[in-house]
Amino acid sequence: MGRLSGKSCIVTGGGAGIGEAIAIRLAEEGARVAVADIDADAAGRVATRLSGQGAEAFGGRVDVASTAEVSAFVDEAARRFGRLDAIVNNAGVALPGSADGISEDDWDRVVAVNLKGVWAGIKYAIPHLRAAGGGSIVNMASVQALVGFPGWAGYAATKGGIIALTQQAAVEYGAEGIRVNCLAPGTIMTPMNEEIFRTAPDPQALIDDWNSSHALHRFGQPQEVGAAAAFLVSDDSSFVTGVCLRVDGGLAVLGPTGRAN
Ligand SMILES: NC(=O)c1ccc[n+]([C@@H]2O[C@H](COP(=O)([O-])OP(=O)(O)OC[C@H]3O[C@@H](n4cnc5c(N)ncnc54)[C@H](O)[C@@H]3O)[C@@H](O)[C@H]2O)c1
Repeated sequence: MGRLSGKSCIVTGGGAGIGEAIAIRLAEEGARVAVADIDADAAGRVATRLSGQGAEAFGGRVDVASTAEVSAFVDEAARRFGRLDAIVNNAGVALPGSADGISEDDWDRVVAVNLKGVWAGIKYAIPHLRAAGGGSIVNMASVQALVGFPGWAGYAATKGGIIALTQQAAVEYGAEGIRVNCLAPGTIMTPMNEEIFRTAPDPQALIDDWNSSHALHRFGQPQEVGAAAAFLVSDDSSFVTGVCLRVDGGLAVLGPTGRAN
């Protein structure tokens, strides 16, 4: 019996990177997992892998910026699994740009996916979690909500909004046994960052720089965020709500140099 046996969960953005690692971990711990991703093939691939490992799973195409698509997928997951116990609102995009540099289109898209997408996941999961007598919502923020990184104004604003929304929802649904928490990862090696490194003028210099900006002097792995998500979904965190759990290798607690020695 796994820690999450009997629980039915949704992971958005579950087709790659952190979301894929979360989906795998939840399934390993016994959960049924619905994988939502804007990339239908990726969602299907991950769901097939989970099924191959003995988990009940399915995948589907969802753009979390579309309330209609989120609503339909959440309802489908609850119907197919018979109940919903948790949603991990992980899907996000990293669109760079300073406050005066980011285009209006990019601002609107990053807000629509990262912030409105998390709100939509909460909104449409709540009736099902209520019907289940309680549940857990895990939202994906970022350490970039807590400390400034030049050139990421829109992204950071959405992640800060996610922390505020998490606290708000924790207060609104706590009496119904619905816990709402968020994760704030530091740099995690995923396709999102691989793309940033691939296009950097000096990738190795950027990797060295980012490594040293964590107290542990290394990036995190998606599986390390998956473990934190599984904790927040599980009953091991039964008295934890409204929390922003940093999974950042100590990035946010470095001193004035912002560098590990
Ligand atoms: N990688 C990091 O260093 C890091 C750090 C802090 C926070 N995060 C956050 O973690 C989450 C996952 O990041 P990642 O690095 O795994 O990203 P990624 O780009 O590697 O993977 C994101 C997944 O989400 C999917 N996706 C993108 N837009 C979507 C949409 N509109 N609807 C549904 N699915 C969509 C993609 O197809 C992909 O499968 C994001 O919210 C990101 O902001 C990442």
